[in-house]
Amino acid sequence: MKKLLELISEEVSIAFEKSGYDKSAGKVNVSNRPDLCEYQCNGAMALAKALKTAPINIANTVVENLKDSKVFSEVSAVMPGFINLNINPDFLADYVSKMASEEKFGLETPKKLKIMLDYGGPNVAKALHVGHLRSGVIGDAINRICKYMGHETISDIHMGDWGTPMGLIMHELSLRKPDLPYFDESFTGEYPVEPPFTVADLEEIYPTASKKSKEDEEYKAKALEKTYKLQTGVRGYRALWNHIINVSVNDMRRIYDNLGVHFDLWNGESSVHELIPDMVKYMKEGGYAYLSEGALVVDVKEETDTKEMPPCIILKSDGASLYNTTDLATIMDRKQKYNPDRYIYLTDKRQDLYFEQVFRCAHKTKLVSEDTNLAHVGFGTMNGKDGKPFKTRDGGVMRLESLMNDVNEATLKKIKENREMSDEDALRISKIVGLAALKYGDLSNVPAKDYIFDMDRFTSFEGNSGPYILYTIVRIKSILEKFANEGGKIDACKISGVDNASEKELMKELTFFSQTVEAAYEELAPSKICAFIYDLANALNSFYHETKILTEEDVNKKNSYIALINLTKQVLETCIDMLGFSAPERM
Ligand code: ARG
Repeated sequence: MKKLLELISEEVSIAFEKSGYDKSAGKVNVSNRPDLCEYQCNGAMALAKALKTAPINIANTVVENLKDSKVFSEVSAVMPGFINLNINPDFLADYVSKMASEEKFGLETPKKLKIMLDYGGPNVAKALHVGHLRSGVIGDAINRICKYMGHETISDIHMGDWGTPMGLIMHELSLRKPDLPYFDESFTGEYPVEPPFTVADLEEIYPTASKKSKEDEEYKAKALEKTYKLQTGVRGYRALWNHIINVSVNDMRRIYDNLGVHFDLWNGESSVHELIPDMVKYMKEGGYAYLSEGALVVDVKEETDTKEMPPCIILKSDGASLYNTTDLATIMDRKQKYNPDRYIYLTDKRQDLYFEQVFRCAHKTKLVSEDTNLAHVGFGTMNGKDGKPFKTRDGGVMRLESLMNDVNEATLKKIKENREMSDEDALRISKIVGLAALKYGDLSNVPAKDYIFDMDRFTSFEGNSGPYILYTIVRIKSILEKFANEGGKIDACKISGVDNASEKELMKELTFFSQTVEAAYEELAPSKICAFIYDLANALNSFYHETKILTEEDVNKKNSYIALINLTKQVLETCIDMLGFSAPERM
């Protein structure tokens, strides 16, 4: 289904043509003076110069040719040459009614692509903290948007599970429990099934070990040696590493589940380590990689670069692989297994340059074909009210789980203030609302921007917040429920016309659905959807306050209202589903 703005533009273009002008001047936009008109076309101004005539003359002629148009209820030419347009309510109602009957509200989906998404990116044995919120939440939303656009997606968590942190943990453990069989290289028996630590142990061991390694060279050297032994496959270290992964991943799964963030693949940096030797060989033989100060590197500079672009290091001088190396090997692996048309990565924006190097390297070395799109979405930091990265009250790193609990608690309090309900219901609903508060609070910001986590604003039932959107949906649900209880048949209701201004506004908002979803996909910006549903929720609430819906006596009007709010509910629900949350039945 064509977008409303396209249809309007076509109509105006035809009028330009009829008037003897180039039809490309007929492009229409939403008016930037809503007090004067709903839509506007500025094409006359653009044409006037070349034609050496006053823009108002062109505008007047075009307006004359639009007089009988069924698309508009009002058309006027105003100085110096704007064409102001108001849409015909019947045409609008008809359009919105069609949206209601079309699949995906008339969204036209593009050629189907296979898209690989890499988000989450936690490091095993470290607690998930607030820094992990954004990668998971934005990544999951982009995944859902891609799917809605009709693409096939594969999501991979890409854990950090292979580097020095592993050796650090093992070394610290070897000092604490030297008798464990994992450290006895002559041990040939079966290793214990039970892990020798809990997740809480790991979360304490890692920072302790990391601190020690910074202060003690020998400690660091031993940890590196253990990393090396793990990577070269020494049996005991592999067995111990498996425990680290299992314990850690079980915990992560639980937290990501609570966050409603899902991954098709739970791979990590380790998953590709066996591919590295072949990849290195390929890069050397292809003449892409060369030795520079002992390290193996690939140049990724381009002539047009205005900023420094260091080479991509494939192997360090001691032969060890790096973050780069595993990422490139992962691209190779993904290409072989899935052959995606497009790859999308989500990390903190501090990795912008890093990904540019990796992408250039992948293209240059032909790990992926020229037309494979590699995209990185770099996001900003979630800050506290002091403008610094969000911390706990006593200044510690805020665990993701604690943050989620705090948000749920705040929403629980609000729900209880608002409504009488059983403790059990209130608790269940507070989790649904809390998730919306947290995710919408994050997603409503343009990814690259830092934002301030504001508990009161995020959990408020009013203003630009997740709970406000849910509240709007719940409001519609409750009207529809009453209508059904009075014997009304919701599905039989049709949108039939417009009879008040706020109803027209609501319809106009609804028409932006397709272009919003398209833009959110093109720009990889779920924030576009947030802005749209906020406007839509506002329009719905104005309509609700100004219109008697259930008490309307004219049955046709009443049914049309019901169909309109039902469509609004479906659109809102579809959008929040793309954002990764849902609405409760009441709140
Ligand atoms: N584990 C990494 C980090 O903590 C993020 C991984 C992102 N994904 C990737 N393919 N590099 O910074």
